[in-house]
Parts: sequence; structure tokens; C-alpha cells
Amino acid sequence: IQRDSRFAKLTEKHVKFFRELLGTESAVIDGVTKDATDDVEAFNSDWMRKYRGHTKLVLKPGSTEEVSKVLKYCNDNMLAVVPQGGNTGLVGGSVPVFDEIVINVSRMNQIRSFDEVSGSLVADAGCILEVVDNYLAEQGYIFPLDLGAKGSCHIGGNVATNAGGLRLLRYGSLHGNVLGIEAVLPDGTIVDDLSKLRKNNTGYDLKQLFIGAEGTIGIITGISILCPQRSKATNVAFFGLESYEKVQLAFREAKGKLGEILSAFELMDANSQDLVHKVTKNKRPLEGEHPFYCLIETSGSNAEHDSEKLEKFLEDVMENEIVSDGVVAQDQTQIKALWGWREGIPECLGHWGGVYKYDVSIPIQELYDLVDDTREKMDKAGLIGDTDEYPVVKVVGYGHMGDSNLHLNVATRRFDKKVEKELEPFVYEWIAKRNGSISAEHGLGIAKKNFIGYSRSDTMIALMKQIKNLYDPVSFPPLDDQSALD
Ligand code: FAD
Ligand code: MLT
Ligand code: ZN
Repeated sequence: IQRDSRFAKLTEKHVKFFRELLGTESAVIDGVTKDATDDVEAFNSDWMRKYRGHTKLVLKPGSTEEVSKVLKYCNDNMLAVVPQGGNTGLVGGSVPVFDEIVINVSRMNQIRSFDEVSGSLVADAGCILEVVDNYLAEQGYIFPLDLGAKGSCHIGGNVATNAGGLRLLRYGSLHGNVLGIEAVLPDGTIVDDLSKLRKNNTGYDLKQLFIGAEGTIGIITGISILCPQRSKATNVAFFGLESYEKVQLAFREAKGKLGEILSAFELMDANSQDLVHKVTKNKRPLEGEHPFYCLIETSGSNAEHDSEKLEKFLEDVMENEIVSDGVVAQDQTQIKALWGWREGIPECLGHWGGVYKYDVSIPIQELYDLVDDTREKMDKAGLIGDTDEYPVVKVVGYGHMGDSNLHLNVATRRFDKKVEKELEPFVYEWIAKRNGSISAEHGLGIAKKNFIGYSRSDTMIALMKQIKNLYDPVSFPPLDDQSALD
């Protein structure tokens, strides 16, 4: 793709304006008037080291009013921007493609209010998820989203990507939990919809458009969200199974027997656990190796009752030969260690070089077939070998079984065109044939942008373009005049 020539190039005059506007030295990282290559580098490249832009300017506004003034100036001067939160996104959406100005909201990191009765929290978009969750823990509450990147991702970034995570099974999607949003549109208009109401059927629910929009129609500066009470008791079990059929049986049993306390049901295949083992060298939770592993978490109000239920569940599924072997964590340290085998997968996968990531929704019966079929294809193409000539290390499957959300990952020694050509459009066609989604929870970003047609009809795409044009008419012309975008 080509840089859109309608956008202006940054000049010293622009930088001077931003310096005067934002005041604080640390709010402007400037590689235009001086050499600041190292300083801007972290903002130019994504978590996977797959996507890299060439910005020379990072702006860190400290308030919603400052975001508004920055965006208005950029809009008036045709300066392209990319919003950035914790930069943990996995589809290349948080970094510039060309020389867009990075607008990073990390300085906006205050909790604005918390209502101990209703559980509604209002906070700046730049708050780090784990920091907010720790704050809520002190009040006896929990953030209704948890994911492996919690130590650096922002709650604004989570809402912008409509992140799913590890407990969607229990707490549902952010579309249901977010009560209100404060955002700034591309022309600087502040959308103040920080409602704390659970119910509000007065016209269109416009905040929903910002949830999962990946920053395309505005920058989220604050959110209000309904937080559930923190469960008094958490238990975790980890078990091994001999086939994907047995995984499905175990899932049905878990829903039936642990229903009201089940808070996570995660799937990991043998390859994913091999990689975690190779990188961390940690002792495996179970003796021997199994083709599949599952992690179950329960959250309830009675520790004794819950662990009795979980132990009984494990006993039953082992007796019925659904599960081959299993273990229940006995304390917090063991709970953390077991979760490490699941949460550690993304980081360990990156250890060899490049990772091709496909985050997909597929009908649950066929979920793992995609991994088998992809592995077979890579094998036939002679690409598996973990050598310079055969760069694929492993084809791996894991994910949020409870949400029919699979993460197909292909770990390689390096990003390689030959590998990519085997994977795409193969994976997308496979998913479209089963009416699945090519992006279950990570979004489109730059990685999936051109493949949206595999999951959305022409009519849906046209409606999305109309919305983008409505909110961002300067950079996105109307549908009948998009020649400038070619
Ligand atoms: P960024 O990466 O900075 O940005 C992501 C997108 O949102 C970009 O398009 C950016 O332009 C936009 N954006 C960011 N902030 C704003 C804002 N304030 N206003 C408007 N737009 C904004 N995702 C899941 O869904 N489930 C998981 O289980 C999960 N686990 C992960 C585990 C690891 C180890 C990693 C690295 C990532 C994981 N992710 C997961 C990916 C997920 O998208 C992000 O972790 C998170 O939601 C993004 O937040 P962020 O603040 O880092 O956003
Ligand atoms: C996860 O579930 O671990 C995340 O979505 C990250 C990934 O897909 O690797
Ligand atoms: Zn995930």
C-alpha cells in the first residue's frame, strides 16, 4: 500500500504548536526537530515485532481537552494519526503504517470514581488493566476482563479492541459491561457519554460503535464499566486428554457439573505446551505427555464447596475415561503456576523468531480441524523443520474453548513469504466455508484489513464505510468518491 498523498508531512511548525499546547517536555517525543530515533522506536514497532512504522512524533496528551485540541489541529492540517494504548495489540493496529503521529494516552491514567454499591467504575482510558484490577480487588470487586497482557495493556485499548480474554465465558463481552464512553472524534468534538446507567433505551446506543472500532472513529479518553463482585474462592484444575472429541465431552461435562461457578475453560494442544516447556524449563504439571490439555477455573463464594465440586468433576471425568490425567491446584502459588502454562503461550511462541497468528471463531465441533489441516498443508509444502531452509518450528493451537475461539499460531524462525503464501488465503477460505470469523477477539488492524470480506458481506462493509465517513469525513471520503483512497 501507498502513503495517501493527501496527508501532510510533519514540519517544525507543527511540532512547535504541539509543544506549546501540551507544555510538558515528556508529552512530546520529537524526532522532527532533533534526532530522537531511539526514543520513538518503541512506539513504531508492535509487540510481535512484525509491523513497523516510521513516525517521528509521539504525543502524550494529559487530558481529554488536550486530545481534542491535538485532533482538531491534525484534522485541520491533514496530519494522519494513530491512537496507541499499551501497544500490546496483535494485528498491527497500534503502530503507524507510514509516518502517522502516534497519540498515546498513557498519561491519562487516573481512576475517576468507583461506586461500591453498584460496582460502576469510571476511569481514564490510559489506566493499565492490572493496576485497575488491583484497585478493584481492594474494594472486593474485579474488572470483568482478564488477559495475558494485563501488565501493560490499557483499559481504553481493551475497549477499542473489544478484547475477549480469559473469562468472557463468565463475565461476557465488553459490549455488555461497558456502561459509557468518553471519546474525541477526529474533528476534536468531545463525545461525553460517560453514563453509569445499566439501562438506557433512549435512541441509538452509540457507545457500542467505539467498542471494537480499533480507534478508527475516535480516541477513547474515558470509560465507565460495570464490575462484578470478586469471588471469594477461586480454584483451578489442569488436565490431559487423548483427543479433541474428549475435550468436547469434558467441556459439556464441565458446563453441566460446574455451571454456575465455571469461570474459564481454556484449551492447549501438546505443541503449545512443548514450546512453553522448552522456553520456561518449568516442571510440567502432569506426568507424561498428552495430545490436549485443558485448564478449568471456578469462581464462587464457598471455597470448600467449590473445591469439592471440582474434585468430584475431575474424579467423574477420569472414571469415565474422558480425561486421562488431572491435577487441582492446592494454593495460590499453584493456581498461578497452572495459569502460566496457558497465559505464557503467546510470549513463548515468539521465542524462535516470527509468529503467524490467526485468532478465529469456528463452530466448536470443527475447531481443532483447522490446526490439523494447516499442519498437514505446511508439512506437504515441506516447510516444517526448524532450520533456515524449512523455517516452520511448530503449528500450534490453543484458545478460549468456552467461547469457540481458537488461536492457530505458526511459530517460525523468521517471517517468510513462502510460509505466508501457504497460510493465506488458505486459513481465511477454510474459515469462510464454515461461516466462522477471521477475527474473534483481536480485531482487524493492518493484518486482517484486506480480508474482512471473508467474514462480512458487501452490505455490512458498505455500512461500516458509511459510519467511518460520518465520523471521519476528512480522511475518509463518501463511498461514491473514494478515488483518493486507491
Ligand atoms: P494497543 O495495542 O495500543 O492498541 C490496539 C488498537 O486499539 C489499535 O488499533 C489502537 O489504535 C487502538 N487504541 C488503543 N488505545 C485506544 C484509545 N484510547 N482510543 C481509541 N483507540 C485506541 N486480546 C484478547 O482479546 N484476548 C486475549 O486473551 C489477549 N491476550 C493477549 C495476551 C498477550 C500476551 C498480548 C501481547 C496480547 C493479547 N491480546 C488479547 C491482544 C489485545 O488486543 C490487547 O492486549 C489489548 O486489548 C490491547 O490493548 P492496548 O492498550 O495494548 O492497545
Ligand atoms: C491469548 O488468548 O493468549 C491471546 O489472545 C493472545 C494470543 O492469541 O496469542
Ligand atoms: Zn485470546
